[in-house]
Amino acid sequence: MSRDTNSRWPGFFKLSIPERISQLAQRAGLDEADLRFLSQGEHLPQHTADHMIENCIGTFELPLGLAMNLRVDSTDRLVPMAIEEPSVLAGLSKAARYLRQGPGISTNVTVPLMIGQVQLMGVPELDRAKQRVLDAKPELLALANTLDPKLIAVGGGARDLEVRILPSEGEDDPVGTMFVVHIIVDVRDAMGANAVNTMAEHLAPRLEELTGGRARLRILSNLADRRLVVARGQVPVSKLGSNGDPNVGADIAQGVMEASVFAERDPYRAATHNKGIMNGIDAVLIALGQDWRAVESGAHAFAARSGRYRALSRWRVRDGVLHGEVELPLAVGTVGGIIESHPAVRAAFAILDIHSAAELASVAAAVGLAQNLAALIALATVGIQHGHMRLHARKIGLALGAAEEELGPLTEELQRRGRIDSETAAAVLAELRGSRG
Ligand code: HMG
Repeated sequence: MSRDTNSRWPGFFKLSIPERISQLAQRAGLDEADLRFLSQGEHLPQHTADHMIENCIGTFELPLGLAMNLRVDSTDRLVPMAIEEPSVLAGLSKAARYLRQGPGISTNVTVPLMIGQVQLMGVPELDRAKQRVLDAKPELLALANTLDPKLIAVGGGARDLEVRILPSEGEDDPVGTMFVVHIIVDVRDAMGANAVNTMAEHLAPRLEELTGGRARLRILSNLADRRLVVARGQVPVSKLGSNGDPNVGADIAQGVMEASVFAERDPYRAATHNKGIMNGIDAVLIALGQDWRAVESGAHAFAARSGRYRALSRWRVRDGVLHGEVELPLAVGTVGGIIESHPAVRAAFAILDIHSAAELASVAAAVGLAQNLAALIALATVGIQHGHMRLHARKIGLALGAAEEELGPLTEELQRRGRIDSETAAAVLAELRGSRG
């Protein structure tokens, strides 16, 4: 089935779940199995779950939603997100609508280099050991590259070796100087943990011989700072205000910039700012079966790379345009893991329609940027609770059988009264209907 390449589906949120699935089926070209999973809530089979983890007793579910309006590198994307938090999808869809004007969000993704670490203790002559390891680099890389022929066949493999000597941290340091070898591996479309860990473990005995030390830890680093993504976007200030009022737009843009600088200066604010970015990124990663804990730890370590914890994004107003940028490591994969075995993950890949880890990283970073913009606009203007309350009021109205055209006045009135509960909503609805005769 052909695919509707536009992610701008106005009012998608006003449909029922079956109507949304039917639109998705028609427009996103999903196959039978994906549709069955979505429409019948087909779960992860228990025997599959039992193979994934130990002591399995069942499965665990989260709502799966679709974020609209995202345009990344000139391609529209419907973005599946698994998350329990209200307003994340709505906020992202709204901010993505702002950011899709003009060229949309653009991204740059580095070569997917991951780092494996081998810790060596008791190395007798540090400088000589370092030289011996560096001299043996061709031999060590060749050894590493015997381990994963599939990775080599697709153009990946071990690329470099580095030595780091971590000095003792004073008199109280219980272990003294440490000798650490980094092996740098191009993991192509894999997340890379398996390939890198195997290489690190396999090189360790030879590194012991070369250095005279004892190998301890042999494991990848989640600070994937050679595997970075930058997403950039812009919105003309005039488009930010309601009804195109340029003064309102200018004030919103100024508020977003002030919020950004707050997070750039202050780790207390940066932690919350970055949580907002990760709200969107994690939800995409969970839906796509990725190791989101690895990405989380990498993102926060990267945020602290200068020695102080800082914002992952930055917003500036220049010449009537609000410019935003986010940069973070994104160790994601489109092969391995649960990608083939989990029906929800398969459906999410089909909806997102991505075919490489680089594309997935681009989309995730773009989501982080748009998610950040949504939160900053709300925080710098009406406050975050306003949107939450609007969504809550809308849900109560729908549960009471309010028609679409009644929802606007109903939510306005509930917010004006400061009481968002079923009883008040029923009374307001009756009043609205009465006043219309
Ligand atoms: P609104 O102005 O009432 O929305 O905003 P609208 O009715 O004008 O609709 C605009 C678009 O938003 C729609 O356009 C939808 O895409 C989307 P369409 O494409 O249909 O033409 N939209 C919705 N999508 C799904 N379900 C809905 C819905 N409503 C609108 N019900 C909105 C309402 C909630 C979007 C707004 O108030 C908002 O953006 N609020 C901020 C929400 C947010 O960012 N939440 C994130 C979670 S909190 C967080 O990030 C943690 C934090 O601590 C981070 C930090 O501190 O930085 C805050």
